[in-house]
Amino acid sequence: MKSIGVFTSGGDAPGMNACIRSVVRSALYLGIDVYGIKYGYNGMIEGDIYKMKSYSVSNILQKGGTILKSARSNEFRTKEGRQKAYEQLKKRGIEGLVAIGGDGTLTGANLFYEEFGIPTIGCPGTIDNDLYGSDYTIGFDTAVNTALDAIDKIRDTANSHDRVFFVEVMGRHSGYIAINCGIGGGAEMVMVPETSVTIQDVIDTLKAGENRHKTSHIVIVAEGGEQGDAIEVAAKVSKELPKLDIRVTNLGHVQRGGAPTALDRMIASRLGMAAVEGLVNGQKNSMVGIIDNKIVFTNIKLAISKSKPINDELMRLVEVMSI
Ligand code: F6P
Repeated sequence: MKSIGVFTSGGDAPGMNACIRSVVRSALYLGIDVYGIKYGYNGMIEGDIYKMKSYSVSNILQKGGTILKSARSNEFRTKEGRQKAYEQLKKRGIEGLVAIGGDGTLTGANLFYEEFGIPTIGCPGTIDNDLYGSDYTIGFDTAVNTALDAIDKIRDTANSHDRVFFVEVMGRHSGYIAINCGIGGGAEMVMVPETSVTIQDVIDTLKAGENRHKTSHIVIVAEGGEQGDAIEVAAKVSKELPKLDIRVTNLGHVQRGGAPTALDRMIASRLGMAAVEGLVNGQKNSMVGIIDNKIVFTNIKLAISKSKPINDELMRLVEVMSI
C-alpha cells in the first residue's frame, strides 16, 4: 500500500485530532503517503483532499474538535455520490482509508467498501461509546469528564437551594454517558434509553430520598429515552409533585468540545497506529477497537449491527449508591 486517506465524519469528538495525528505519523513512518480528506464524505465527493506531512499534525494532539472538519453527508447516501467519491480517490491513487467516526460513518464505510472494494479501517470516534467492538470510543471519556464537571457545580447550587435538577446528557440512543455521569456525579437516579423507567419510578425515588432527609436530588436524563427529554420529564414530575423546586439543565454540545483527557489521547493514538498497521497487514473492512486493553479488529458490519448493552452492574451501582 503506497497511499491512504484519512477523514473524520459525523459528530466530532475530543481525541479525533490525536487519532488523525497518529494515522498520519504511523503511515509516514512506514513510507506511505497520507491524504487528509476534509469534511468527511462531503470532502471525498468534492475532492477537498490534500497531502499531509508530519508537520500537518504538529500541535494538535491536545486540541478538541477535528482539523479535518466534519460533516454528515446526504450525498454520500446516494450511489452517484459514492461513485464521485470513488473517482476522487482513484484520481489520487488512494488505496486505503481510515474513517474516524461513529455509527453513521462506519455504515457509510461499509457500503463504500462493498461497492468499490477500497480497504477501509474504522476508528471508533464518538462521545456516545455505542460501538460494538471497543470498550471505549474516542471522546467518550472526555465527554463524561466535561459533564461531570458541570454536574458537580449543579450539585453545589442544588444543595444550597434544596432543589431537584433534571440534567440532560447526550448519547443519542445510548445511555453510556448518562450512566457514567450518574455514578461519577452521585446522581439519585439515571434514566437511560436501554431501560424502561416510568414517571412513577422517578416520583418514588424522589419521595424515598426525601424520607431519608435528602435535600437535593439530581436525575440524569439521557437523550433518546422513552419519557422524553429532561424538560418533558421535569414537567411530568412537577405536575405530580408541585411543591418540588425543580430546575432543568441540558448540557448539550459542551460535551463534544474541549481538550481530550489522557485516556482519550491514549486510545486515539493507539487506534490510529493500529488502523494503519491493519491496512498494511491486509485488514479490509474492519473497525479497530480496544477490548481488555488489547487491540482488536471487528468486521465493520458486525460493529454497526450489534448493540453494546450497558453492564447491569453499573445500573445496580447507581441504585445502591443513591440510598
Ligand atoms: O453522536 C454524537 C452526538 O453528540 C449525539 O450524542 C447527539 O445525539 C448528536 O451527536 C447530536 O448531533 P448534532 O451535533 O448534529 O446536533
